[in-house]
Amino acid sequence: MIETLEIFPTERQLLFDRLNNKLETAFNLNRKVVSFQANKEEPLYRWFKYKEGFSSTLVKYFLSEYAPKPGKLLDPFAGAGTTLFAGQELGWQAEGIELLPVGSFVMETRDAINDIEIEKLKQVAKNLWKEVDKIKKYKNEIVHISITKDAFPEETEILLNKYLTYCKKIKDIKIQTVLKFAAFTILEQISYTRKDGQYLRWDYRSKRDLSGKQFDKGKILSFVDAVTHKLQQIIDDLSPNQNISLFEQFENPNRKKKPVKIISGSCLDELPKMKSNYFDFIITSPPYCNRYDYTRTYALELVYLGNNNDQVRNLRQTMLSCTVENKEKVDYLKNTYTKIGKIDQFEKVMRVYNNSLAMTEVNYMLDELNRLEKLNNSNIARMVKNYFLEMCFVISEMARVTKSTGYCVMVNDNVRYGGEEIPVDLILSDFAENFGFEIKKIFVLPKGKGNSSQQMGSFGRTEVRKCVYLWQKK
Ligand SMILES: C[S@@+](CC[C@H](N)C(=O)[O-])C[C@H]1O[C@@H](n2cnc3c(N)ncnc32)[C@H](O)[C@@H]1O
Repeated sequence: MIETLEIFPTERQLLFDRLNNKLETAFNLNRKVVSFQANKEEPLYRWFKYKEGFSSTLVKYFLSEYAPKPGKLLDPFAGAGTTLFAGQELGWQAEGIELLPVGSFVMETRDAINDIEIEKLKQVAKNLWKEVDKIKKYKNEIVHISITKDAFPEETEILLNKYLTYCKKIKDIKIQTVLKFAAFTILEQISYTRKDGQYLRWDYRSKRDLSGKQFDKGKILSFVDAVTHKLQQIIDDLSPNQNISLFEQFENPNRKKKPVKIISGSCLDELPKMKSNYFDFIITSPPYCNRYDYTRTYALELVYLGNNNDQVRNLRQTMLSCTVENKEKVDYLKNTYTKIGKIDQFEKVMRVYNNSLAMTEVNYMLDELNRLEKLNNSNIARMVKNYFLEMCFVISEMARVTKSTGYCVMVNDNVRYGGEEIPVDLILSDFAENFGFEIKKIFVLPKGKGNSSQQMGSFGRTEVRKCVYLWQKK
């Protein structure tokens, strides 16, 4: 007889019943605003498509709606920097932490080239291909790792290496950076790969030995066309008449842009070092608990930035646990908190996590589903357990660094495994309450046709929620 699991989602239902009055369908926050989509046509933000990002519109909406005047803003999962740059445009002093060198490179480049000599850039762009063509001796600047080998057509790979050799010869560092950045942003378009969440998908034309259904990614752009187009876009956006930031400064001559501060590293390490009661606002979106692997998705970009196999593997482990490969970090965290003399805080976080009955139920249920081989990967239970534990640390730190009456806005999706819904929004908000935040609202994104707030009436029956949480420090 096949053993089945009878699950009564009692604790999750109780948590749902307790927080139900905080859930509100937000018709003004559609999928486009909460995802990167709304940035696609936005000058400056459109330079690099960071699919996992949210839009500048979302950031500006929350800052203008909930903060009377600009202050200090933080994003501990800064990605490509939407929070930081949108905040900067509104006069905020913004700080961000990002682990992946991909996001840090985008932010640092954007920050550095804001006041570039545009006429000089136009001149270099005009003669670019003539100069690259003159390069006869070049080094293999791109050193592939196993998961990126043969990602580019041979002629593209040669051109890419020549291009990078030419970049190194340019004396003006800002111009050099823009050129390096322009090629960085189009790597997917000139490759045989397509970003696909857990892995890169490979086009049938690549040299790889591919099994399974053939995949045709469509047109693969030529390196010259793709870089030329990107440079033109950057030049257009930086030219004064196109530049929204300059325009805004012109309208508000007294408002000087405050420089953004970018910290490269893990927020699990960096947040504990930050001052208490310092930030007025946090707007952030952590990785979701959905097995999405940033280090594989951005493997081409990581290799382009000079990361080798070990470095990529190390990044994968250091990230917030959101893939089945992530190992537990609890000993590491205990060590970190001990070293900085904050073991009490470590213990408090562990208590909050262990006292969460909904969390205990989720962990128990996943272990049972695992035992019955109902999960399609045996490490899902470990990933979920560690995802929430690490987020519990992040939330405790976010509460500590936020000033009294300051806000935290978090974008995240719920998930479902083995048919069981995991209410990420409710569990994380419950943690937040334990660390001194008040849950103001959990804005639920409108779904397809027929969705209404009445449908939220009972736990686990509907499509998983995609939410924006609004917490205020007491
Ligand atoms: C959903 S994305 C944020 C995107 C961002 N809101 C934007 O608009 O560009 C989550 C980010 O968290 C980063 N991340 C994952 N683990 C991290 C950690 N431990 N510390 C800091 N950043 C981390 C990922 O690299 C990713 O860029």
